[in-house]
Amino acid sequence: MKATVLNMAIAASIAAGANAQPHHHGHHHHKKNVDKRDVETTYVPATVTQYMLGNDEVSADEAKAGLDKGLYVVVGETTPTFTPPPKPVVTSSSSKEDAVFIQKVTSTSSSSSAYATTTSSSSATSSSAAASSSASSSYSSGATGVNAEFPSGKIKCSEFPEQYGAVPLDYLGLGGWTGLQFTPDYKIGDLSISNIINGVKGMAQQAGFYSYACPDGYVKSQWPEAQGSTKQSVGGLQCNSDGYLELSRPSSKTLCEPGVGGVTIKNDMAKNVAICRTDYPGIEAMVIPVDSQPGTTRNLANVDSADYYHWTGLSTTLQYYVNQPGVSTEDGCVWDCATDHDECGNWAPTILGVGKAADGNTYISLFPNTPTSSAKPRMNINITGDVSIPCYFQDGAYAVGDSGCTTTIPSGGSAVIHFTEA
Ligand SMILES: *[C@@H]1O[C@H](CO)[C@@H](O)[C@H](O)[C@H]1NC(C)=O
Repeated sequence: MKATVLNMAIAASIAAGANAQPHHHGHHHHKKNVDKRDVETTYVPATVTQYMLGNDEVSADEAKAGLDKGLYVVVGETTPTFTPPPKPVVTSSSSKEDAVFIQKVTSTSSSSSAYATTTSSSSATSSSAAASSSASSSYSSGATGVNAEFPSGKIKCSEFPEQYGAVPLDYLGLGGWTGLQFTPDYKIGDLSISNIINGVKGMAQQAGFYSYACPDGYVKSQWPEAQGSTKQSVGGLQCNSDGYLELSRPSSKTLCEPGVGGVTIKNDMAKNVAICRTDYPGIEAMVIPVDSQPGTTRNLANVDSADYYHWTGLSTTLQYYVNQPGVSTEDGCVWDCATDHDECGNWAPTILGVGKAADGNTYISLFPNTPTSSAKPRMNINITGDVSIPCYFQDGAYAVGDSGCTTTIPSGGSAVIHFTEA
């Protein structure tokens, strides 16, 4: 019998130049001291992966050996919940803030966490998104589109609610959904959800939470207040026991909400880049696509962390896996890619974290997907615009050091993440 291993990645914020010590984040909210420096302070994320066997941590070597021998399988995936670093310290006051980069575990009971979903893309004024949504055929209930209010309890779980702005991802094989979390024991009013079964291709649909992608610039607005009892995130519309879809977060009447904007991706290469956001809250696989085609500029969803999903009381941000140039979103925005496995999907070379913090700044991090992947982007990536400090991957190296970089844009500012040929 195979033991199960949870893969827990942890990112920490580090004051640049200071002790580059990864900050372990368990289930608790840690405090982290930030070095005060009279020069410019920068923050560099670092990641650490913890492997959990049941409740016990096992060393990376042990986990790897077990995995190599087939004794272990990874059943949970990292939930890349990059949260922006604390405000740079410029005065002596408030030099301590809670640690901010968190990444958490998803525990999944089947091996197909590759098929999950969640929100989609980016922020801002995505007129093309609205246009394409409204172009879809209308539902019998009348006018629809990404701004249409969802008629809770009226649409069958077998009907993907494309007319309400959700973007179907048929190639995942889940009826257009990005992830299915069946919760046979859940009742409205439950404080947490202990029995979560990840739906996989071919499984009959059951009551639970059905997650979905939204257009570029938008994020999913539905998730239940009750979350997994062992801290798994749960998200999507609720498929009730009668087989109808209900809003799980009725304070939002639509399925998608526009992000706060400010971040775009510009691709000046001859090949596309598949950028894949983790479906969070939900199954937490990197399945929400932004297809950065040659010559285009695309919104990359950004959220105001205080107003978006909170995980165990912590505000969260968005995380994007950036694939190698030339990989399609269909091939690359899955957990396990069919081709070029070691540089794709969960093993994509680099990750972008995006979130607007309480201080009004949007933090953008670019960091290698280590230790999961040793791949390096076969392109240059430069975060340009109203950025506080340079942050890029150029000629095979990150701006600050091996662990990547974080830059910020002020409220109302904008950043263009620029892809160019290496
Ligand atoms: C990034 O873009 C900025 C602004 O265009 C430019 O000044 C800088 O040289 C670029 N950095 C790299 C490494 O290409």
